[in-house]
Amino acid sequence: MVDAILTELSKSSFDFRKFANPSDPLSELFDEWVSYYRLKFCVAKILQPKSILEVGVRYGYSARTFLEASPSARFVGVDLDCDSFGGQSGALGWARQITAAYDAEFVTADSQQMKRLPGSIYDLIHVDGQQDGDGSWHDLELAVNQSRYVLADGYFWTQQNLFFKPFDILCQLRQLKEHTTETTSVVLHAEGLIHFLRFG
Ligand SMILES: C[S@@+](CC[C@H](N)C(=O)[O-])C[C@H]1O[C@@H](n2cnc3c(N)ncnc32)[C@H](O)[C@@H]1O
Repeated sequence: MVDAILTELSKSSFDFRKFANPSDPLSELFDEWVSYYRLKFCVAKILQPKSILEVGVRYGYSARTFLEASPSARFVGVDLDCDSFGGQSGALGWARQITAAYDAEFVTADSQQMKRLPGSIYDLIHVDGQQDGDGSWHDLELAVNQSRYVLADGYFWTQQNLFFKPFDILCQLRQLKEHTTETTSVVLHAEGLIHFLRFG
């Protein structure tokens, strides 16, 4: 799987800047982010998920990236539409705009208040919301029980996450998993680094 993604990456010229919001306050970082979204594109290109849920949408750059890689997928995005953890109030409006040609819906909600993510089982859940240790853990705990693949983004970006069970997370999540008949893989993704953690 990792080899297939890396091979795809070596051929890909995917560039998220074609749909990025020029008014994004972080626009000076766009050039740096090209390889980051390209890797996400290649992950989805190889996995070909038919259903995707994302926690933490912001302007929808990952959402559109996944949908370009797997255009027939049904996408559900959950975002608090807040100004913390890289968020920007109102950003969901742009996310809706750039995914209008796809089967995408967005829910404005606090994932931390959820006992279950909206909908049933997904092929891919992208966890990229409240990255403060407990928040990431909460979202991962829900995601791992509702998805065949979990992409945990920016997992090592915040100090809280870095020191929050970074090494034994696989064992911890394995114990949490309820769907023993399904195989779930967790992908930790940060700065071009991906780790596949496989259950089942
Ligand atoms: C790092 S950004 C997501 C970036 C996006 N995945 C992308 O690739 O462009 C984190 C997002 O999580 C959202 N967020 C923060 N706390 C949240 C919570 N408790 N529930 C839902 N969304 C949350 C923020 O509003 C922000 O949009």
